[in-house]
Amino acid sequence: MVGSYSLTPDCLAQSYGQRAKECPSPDSQITLVFSQDRPFDLIELEQLLVDVGWSRRPLRRVRKALDNSLLKVGLWRHDPKFPRLVGFARCTGDGVLEATVWDVAVHPLYQGNGLGKELMIYILELLKEMEIKRVTLFADPGVVDFYVGQGWELEPQGNRCCFWYAN
Ligand SMILES: CC(C)(COP(=O)(O)OP(=O)(O)OC[C@H]1O[C@@H](n2cnc3c(N)ncnc32)[C@H](O)[C@@H]1OP(=O)(O)O)[C@@H](O)C(=O)NCCC(=O)NCCS
Repeated sequence: MVGSYSLTPDCLAQSYGQRAKECPSPDSQITLVFSQDRPFDLIELEQLLVDVGWSRRPLRRVRKALDNSLLKVGLWRHDPKFPRLVGFARCTGDGVLEATVWDVAVHPLYQGNGLGKELMIYILELLKEMEIKRVTLFADPGVVDFYVGQGWELEPQGNRCCFWYAN
């Protein structure tokens, strides 16, 4: 993987917030940035999640879910005028002891380049800074090995995890 590091620290902070970080890029022509501060265009965010195969959700509820989340991380393809959202993940939790990761997505055009892994590393670093002790997530069936390959442990014997669905 080739890194592209063309942004000055000032430009990085200005466009993506103080805690933004460049992400190793698979293409030297493309600069990728993780940000937990750059605001999302909800239509762009939902389109990304639809593009990875998920159902569209009412934007009003998505906005509320983001507002109530502990962390929202965007992976942006840098452009001085129009950065594009190419990856996303968010966490809910109490900010102290527990967190749960949701909506991990990398745009199909950017998948298979190690970006999903970098996204998870970035999120876990932020959660570690909060001294959160336990992080959980609910993997889609076809993605379990993506997490296991990064050291996540499967819930023992698959018999302690409970779900309740409203319909
Ligand atoms: C899952 C997802 C985030 C992975 O992103 P990505 O950028 O393609 O993943 P990476 O390139 O960083 O892959 C890292 C490693 O995981 C492996 N991997 C990637 N997707 C995988 C999958 N679905 N199942 C098993 N392993 C997978 C890769 O082969 C790679 O292995 P390596 O380190 O041995 O080379 C992305 O495919 C995606 O957005 N999928 C659709 C949405 C989704 O299912 N999200 C997860 C919901 S729980």
